[in-house]
Amino acid sequence: MRRPINRRYFIGTTAAASLATLAVGASEPRPTGDRRPVAVASGNGLRAVEKAVELARLGYDPLDAAIEGVAIVEADPKDDSVGYGGLPNEDGVVELDAAVMHGPTHGGGSVASLRNIMHPAAVARLVMNRTRHCLLVGEGALRFARAHGFPEVDLLTDHARKVWLHWKETRDPSDDWLPPPKEEVAAYLDDYMKRRVTGTIHCSVLDTHGDLGCATTTSGLSWKIPGRVGDSPILGAGLYLDNEVGSAGSTGVGEANLLHCSSYLVVENMRRGLAPKDAVMEALKRIAQSSIRDPKRRRPDGKTTFNVSFYAVSKSGEFAGGCIYPGGKMAVHDGDSARVVQLDPLFDS
Ligand code: GLY
Repeated sequence: MRRPINRRYFIGTTAAASLATLAVGASEPRPTGDRRPVAVASGNGLRAVEKAVELARLGYDPLDAAIEGVAIVEADPKDDSVGYGGLPNEDGVVELDAAVMHGPTHGGGSVASLRNIMHPAAVARLVMNRTRHCLLVGEGALRFARAHGFPEVDLLTDHARKVWLHWKETRDPSDDWLPPPKEEVAAYLDDYMKRRVTGTIHCSVLDTHGDLGCATTTSGLSWKIPGRVGDSPILGAGLYLDNEVGSAGSTGVGEANLLHCSSYLVVENMRRGLAPKDAVMEALKRIAQSSIRDPKRRRPDGKTTFNVSFYAVSKSGEFAGGCIYPGGKMAVHDGDSARVVQLDPLFDS
């Protein structure tokens, strides 16, 4: 088995090699149409929507535009919920999940629990284009990525390793890991211990022909049990589209979306005539109502223990997002300019 290369070497060469593999499986641009392109993404996706619309304007396929957009965040060591720099599982290993959907062909592909590959969304596109399957996981997904020339990278940054080590050393006073000396504990480490990171990036793109493409990519829930797969690589849960209707995706606690096929639900809500805003809010209500039947997902006040956010764009170019609790953000490019907006929550607290 090929070993991951060391980080110093990676900085010089592998970033370029990883970026080069982004083109593997992408289509040639076609003449542009006359529609205004639109892209929506989770709040960490401002650069993603800018890139996606730039490419859509050049005639690139909407899925290729979405993949190039999210690749910026996959390669960003400062985003601790996606790709390189993502927080690891409980063993300190970064495991990535990603999926893509392509409107014109209604194709989809995904990878789950993929290690050592910086751009899992691009690998998911190859699962869609170069196999008869929809989902590859773990070692099989890694071998598939290698077969297509994706370089292996140590995805665990020093920052992510330190946060993980702090979690490991402070989680259980009765285990054999001693807490770190107080003087060595930076304030940011304590901040991390107050929450589980569930960030992710989703990006949906409507191109100049009115065709749709979308991608969702994540390192998943921080400190997850090794092998845990969230909603992001599950078509219908972490993303879904229908080229005649619209596209949607989600971030947040993936289990809620697995239990509700949430992105499918948002798109189906649009299919029966709801505007994206109402489609999203209806889905959030459904999740909030049914999840609390399970005591482990119900707070003492009867609301959900978790948050999820949705991002949706319709075939006509209307877009909206929403979340269960305040704090969610959406990056949007409406064809004129890009910005980050606050999402309307279902509940105030
Ligand atoms: N939504 C990302 C995850 O739960 O893995």
